[in-house]
Amino acid sequence: MGNGITQVFARHGYSVTLCDVEPSVLERALERVRKNLERQVSKGRMTEAEQSATLARISTVGDRAALAGCDFVVEAAWERLETKSELFSALARICRPGVILASNTSSISITELMTATERPERFIGLHFFNPVPLMKLVEVVRTVATAHEVYETAYEFAKKLGKVPVRTSDKTGFIVNRLLVPYLLDAIRAYEEGVGSIDDIDNAMKLGCGYPMGPFTLLDFVGLETTYYITHVMYDEFKERRFASPPLLKRLVMAGWYGRKTGKGFYDYSDPNNPKPNRL
Ligand code: 3HC
Repeated sequence: MGNGITQVFARHGYSVTLCDVEPSVLERALERVRKNLERQVSKGRMTEAEQSATLARISTVGDRAALAGCDFVVEAAWERLETKSELFSALARICRPGVILASNTSSISITELMTATERPERFIGLHFFNPVPLMKLVEVVRTVATAHEVYETAYEFAKKLGKVPVRTSDKTGFIVNRLLVPYLLDAIRAYEEGVGSIDDIDNAMKLGCGYPMGPFTLLDFVGLETTYYITHVMYDEFKERRFASPPLLKRLVMAGWYGRKTGKGFYDYSDPNNPKPNRL
């Protein structure tokens, strides 16, 4: 999601320093942003001058020390507590005192991440949705320790990015995943119980409820390993079956079938324009 967040920030006039330890990730991210912007130009939604100005506002770095002067840092690292905590602990040492530190986590407790920083009042959750340039929502998440002005600054900042922010508190899954994840897991259970085929369940929810994607297309889009990880965090918090991973989800993740990104999940993406449901 980092490249989408970068694109949105830069498009709305902010200078962005995109940081990753892996140079190839930075290259791919920049390439993705370039392609998205080119598409906007070709569709007449953006001028070439705006495209160049947007790209000129993005710089890439491999060393976290380069983030020292930033006003606002949004972390979009691998969804693992240890990775994010280590990163925030380093950022708290590196960044200037007035910085706002934000996590784009979808499930990890903002309060738990906050404890790595020793800057509890300047720490928030800023949860974007995939694909970031298209999805209007941002969940702005406060902890008991977040300073009021920091929270309001983040809320207003999301609006300046052309997004619609919603306020939520630090309860696992926030608003969207609290409701979305049980629905996705129920779709897998329905399939396991023979209620319908993968494409019939997808079509039913698309055409019967007006959802842009059916649950299996969405699962593959979000990433099955990401969803599987989220189920652990949510089940751990609430101890309710509706947040527990169905066996099939676990099996697909063990097999390395993560969805679109690996070419296989509930669908096979050998032909990306014409995904075929797998026999599972
Ligand atoms: N990045 C950038 N642009 C994209 C894109 C992507 N990944 N996918 C599609 N687009 C663009 C297309 O290029 C197209 O652009 P155009 O208007 O210039 O032609 C436009 O979006 C429409 O694309 P399509 O006609 O191919 O497809 P859709 O009409 O179905 O729209 C969609 C695509 C907006 C992704 C839509 O299917 C949708 O809203 N899907 C649901 C997404 C969703 O629910 N996201 C939330 C996931 S949960 C989450 O992120 C939380 C996390 O914590 C798990």
